[in-house]
Formats: sequence, structure tokens, C-alpha cells
Amino acid sequence: MPKRALLPSGDNEAMTPGPSSDSIDKLSDSTDFLPKVPLLAIDRQNGPLREQFRQVMDDVCDSGRFVLGPDVTALENELSTILNVPHVIGCASGSDSLLLALMALHIEPGDEVILPSYTFFATASAVTRLGGTPIFADIDPSTFLIDSDDVARRITSRTRAIIPVHLFGQTVDMDALLPIANGAGIPIIEDAAQSILSTWHGRCSGGLGDMGCFSFYPTKNLGGFGDGGFLTTTRDDLADALRKLRVHGMEPRYYHDVVGINSRLDSLQAAVLRIKLPHLDQWTTKRAHNAIRYTEMVNHCELEDVITTPRIDTRGRHVWNQYVIRVADGKRDALREHLMATGVGTEIYYPVPLHLQKCFANFGWKLNDLPVTEQAAKETLALPIFAELEPAEQATVVGRIAEFFGRPPVPKQIAGMEKGSDAVSQPRQVRRTGLIGRADDVRC
Ligand SMILES: Cc1ncc(COP(=O)(O)O)c(C=O)c1O
Repeated sequence: MPKRALLPSGDNEAMTPGPSSDSIDKLSDSTDFLPKVPLLAIDRQNGPLREQFRQVMDDVCDSGRFVLGPDVTALENELSTILNVPHVIGCASGSDSLLLALMALHIEPGDEVILPSYTFFATASAVTRLGGTPIFADIDPSTFLIDSDDVARRITSRTRAIIPVHLFGQTVDMDALLPIANGAGIPIIEDAAQSILSTWHGRCSGGLGDMGCFSFYPTKNLGGFGDGGFLTTTRDDLADALRKLRVHGMEPRYYHDVVGINSRLDSLQAAVLRIKLPHLDQWTTKRAHNAIRYTEMVNHCELEDVITTPRIDTRGRHVWNQYVIRVADGKRDALREHLMATGVGTEIYYPVPLHLQKCFANFGWKLNDLPVTEQAAKETLALPIFAELEPAEQATVVGRIAEFFGRPPVPKQIAGMEKGSDAVSQPRQVRRTGLIGRADDVRC
């Protein structure tokens, strides 16, 4: 294994403040680098469950039921219990779940829907596919989540829905948003594609607004073997509409009084997801431990002035679909290149905000319209955070970042690489730091 390249001494001397005597002691015991750290290694999660997957796939094959069917119904019921929401409706993707939610609200040309620009494309394209107008709101610079004050400013007589996105796995500040939406009588569609099991005051995302939209895309915390998604709602009327809309608006068979779409969840996906679901809470907790470990490592490497670690709102449980840092001074892309060159996988979510995408040019947005969003698009970088990530891999990620900035490496004690070290894996420590949020509140 290659030894860490030592930095020119001049670079180290230039650091302010200099390393404490304690960290100098630890430098002598620093970690080696691993040759490669992937952004995501799904095989590590799927490998141990492979036999169970094979069994349920055989069962589906034998049953001859491939679309919706008993596995989908069972998965919907299990999710309903876990998320504590009365209605769960499976569909073909997270993107379709957003489209179906807007269809259930009868969004049509001329209607406005407020949403963040700093999100995945599907949040906005669902609106435009129905002829609606996306009204982009700016975000909070510390959480990257929609800024409720900006939402309030953008409400007009044409506003028909608000879509907060629980981005990267963190729940939007619903204490701020709900009174604004309720006061104006505007329904909330939560885009919870990245936030399954996230909570707000102990209640799961998806049950906080009128409808919740989720994705089973393989990179999500609960990912299937392809596309899939589901909707949640507390409202009986919307649940009935959504069940109909996902099957061409058909009820009973071959009778249509509304035009829906074909968006059904496959039995094979549901069967696979039912194997994974019982592990989800534990996987989520591991992600949270990884997040804490990163923050500790960043602090030990004295990187706080050059990168900003995620800010966590302790009123909710963050489920860490992504661990996204902010890199100051225009160095994000160079850092990413350094990490790529040294075998560390990263991603930029998202390099072009939606209000500046070519396909939305007709809506007339321009540069500087959403300054906080535009700054985030230039500065953010997602690091590997998946549940099976090893402490030694995290030490390599942070060590490579430290190397780039000429900062001290990660001490072995912090990397948890020493024999018998459990420095960062104890739940006790998690609670003390408060970083995990209110994980204990939640039944899921
Ligand atoms: C915030 C957000 N919304 C919607 C989606 C769409 O989900 P899907 O890929 O399942 O269509 C995603 C998935 O990437 C997402 O991250």
C-alpha cells in the first residue's frame, strides 16, 4: 500500500492555526491510503442477501404475477406501518410519483407550483409535463433546503402546490413551511425521494404534507433492482385518485372517467424491496455514524476553514442519502479532480440549478435570480456515505482532502483502524454529539 505523500514542509508551516501538540503526536501514527474508495458499492449490501433475493424471484416467477400483485400490496402495507402513514401507493418511479401527485391535484396549464431549483430534474419536469409553471425558490445556505421565507414571497393567486424536497436525506424545516402553506390553503407535495425514514419531530417524511413522493432507484437508501417508487398520503380522497391514476384512470376494468398513466410497480421489485426493508433502519443508522465520523476526521485534519461539513437540524432525523460538503474559494472542481485521480469517488449534486437549465429557458429565469442556489451549485461535493463504508475508507477520503489542502492526515485512532478501536462506532457517542437527530423517536 503506498505511503502518504508528505507535503512540502513550507505548506505545513503556512497553516494557521498550526496543529496542536496533541495532533502532532497523532501525525506520527497516521493512516495509509487505500487505493480506491467508491462513491457507492451496492454489491456490499446486496451480496449477503443474494440467496434471499433468488428465492423470492423464484417465487414471483412461479406465481406468474409480475405487475402489482400480492408482493406490491404487502410492500405497501409494510411501508404504511413503518412510515406510520395510512396510504401507500406503489408506482413505477420516483419521477412518476411526482407526476401522479400533481395529476391528483389537477395541475393544468397556467397553474404555478413552488419548488427549489436545487434538486433533481424530476421535481420540476413533473410540473412542466402537465403544462404547469415551476416557480423556483431559493435555499437555506447551511442546509441546502428550500427557504420558507422565499416560498412565502413567491405565492400568488395561481399557486396550486408547494414541493419541498428533503434533499440529501434531511427533512425540510416543516415548522416554518407548514403554517405558510396552510395559511394560504396550498397543498404540500413532499419530494421524499432521497429521504425515506427521515423524520420531523419524530414523524416520518411523506406524512407531513398532503402527499409524499419516494424513489426506489438503486442509489436510494432503499433501492431496488431497477426503477420503482411510491406515494404516501394521509388523505383518503387523494389515495383513491392516485390508485386510479397509476392504472390509466381505470376503474372498474376498461372503464375510464379520468385519463391516468401506466405507472405500476413490478412484483419482482416489490419482492426484492421486501427483503431489504427490515434492514433499512440499521443501514440508515450506519450512514449517520459515517457522517459523524467524517465530521470528526475533518476536524482532526483542521479542514474546517476550507470545507464546510453538513449542518444538521436536530428537530429531524437526517438519513444521509448523501454527505455533501461545501468547498470554498473556487476549489471544488480541483479538489474533485484530485480525488478522482487518487481513486476516491465523488459526485456533484447538482452542477446546473434547474432555473438555468436550457429546457426551462422559456420561463425567463436568469443568472443571479437565485444566488444561494447558484453558489451551492458551484461549491458542493458529495463524498461516499453508504452504510457499508469502512472507517479506513473514510480516512482515505478525508486524508486525500487533507493532502489536497496541505493539512495534517487522519490519525489512526480517529480512523478506527487500530485493533479493537471502537472510537466512533458507539451509539452512546452518537447521542452525545446529537448529530444523528431524533433517531430514537421514530418507530421506523
Ligand atoms: C429529489 C429527487 N426527486 C425525484 C427523483 C426521481 O426519482 P426516480 O429516479 O425514481 O424517478 C429523484 C431521483 O433521483 C430525486 O433525487
